[in-house]
Amino acid sequence: MNISQISRRAVIATAVTLAMPVAMAQAPAKLKVGFMLPATGTFAALGTAIENGFRLHLAEQGGKLGGREVEFFKVDDESDPSKAIDNVNKLIKRDNVDVLVGSVHSGVAMAMARVAKGSGTLMINPNGGADAVTGAMCAVNIFRTSFSNWQPGFAIGQAMAAKGHKTAATITWKYAAGDEMAKGFKEGFEKAGGKITKELNLPFPNVEFQALLTEIASAKPDAVFSFFAGGGAVKFVKDYDAAGLKKNIPLFGTGFLTDGTLEAQGASADGVLTALHYADGLNTPRDNAFRLAYAKTYKMQPDVYAVQGYDAAQILGIGLAAVKGDAKNAAGFAAAVTKATIDSPRGKFTMSKAHNPIQDMYLRQVSGKENKVVGIASKALEDPARGCKM
Ligand code: BEZ
Repeated sequence: MNISQISRRAVIATAVTLAMPVAMAQAPAKLKVGFMLPATGTFAALGTAIENGFRLHLAEQGGKLGGREVEFFKVDDESDPSKAIDNVNKLIKRDNVDVLVGSVHSGVAMAMARVAKGSGTLMINPNGGADAVTGAMCAVNIFRTSFSNWQPGFAIGQAMAAKGHKTAATITWKYAAGDEMAKGFKEGFEKAGGKITKELNLPFPNVEFQALLTEIASAKPDAVFSFFAGGGAVKFVKDYDAAGLKKNIPLFGTGFLTDGTLEAQGASADGVLTALHYADGLNTPRDNAFRLAYAKTYKMQPDVYAVQGYDAAQILGIGLAAVKGDAKNAAGFAAAVTKATIDSPRGKFTMSKAHNPIQDMYLRQVSGKENKVVGIASKALEDPARGCKM
């Protein structure tokens, strides 16, 4: 090697060295997304569907949100509110996440919201319906892509009354989701002239329904309202049928009773009427494309949880694009998201001032393996956001 070759190499090496830090400084750091979802227990399948939906939208965006590549951190929250504070702190303090995505269980979602509000960490809730999350606990950095417990409860209460039923019994798990959906149901049903004659519940996640089914049989209401989800919903719908109640006392519920569960519920679910912000048979180009992509990727049909996860990634993309990827700019993020119309597989929706979807509640009836849309139970239903000051 002669002198001129050596010096030419040195010049190139110096140029590369000088250019490298500039190029590296221009690549934004990866966006750290912390999934706090159940991977075990009665809601495990719901957590998987949410993550699937989120990843599907991310893949459609070329793996980036707001110009940043995404890196995932995960904890199994076990749907256990008593472990929720520790779990959320693992994501915030140990993993330093930019965004929290979770959870399914209302009690866990409330604990997350408390910590997110205190720390200012961006939080997107893709299911947990606790009214307080976008009510008394609302905050500039907290968003929900699912529903408040009040919304589907209120909608099915109105729909049950519209079917001509005058009296109803309610049966739910005893925790925020069950209590608040039953309360929403009562408000909708009584406003329309109905009367609740029996209120039954059992602790989450118990599935020993027999004694309560016997009480329903002797109370003889016109119809029954219920909230269960995941594995618990499978067992409840089968037990209700096996107890001989289904043919005499029609079963209604919030849509979680039959969403993602029909394969396991079989004929026991046939005819059950529910209200929810998603349904089978919407047959819109947007939903058809989503369902096809989901089925191709995961070899199964999507459910409401998959849609909520998909829209969590959509909201994150919309908000982060507006603030150029700066997840700490909650005010800028919120301004963009509350101005946007979100093009969801469920149908277009907007975010309320409290950051909860304003959305149609479909009336659905189980037919075979589908929650067939049969009407709209409540159009553009907005949660009252009681106690929210923002
Ligand atoms: C909840 O705890 O908020 C919930 C869980 C499963 C389905 C729907 C709501």
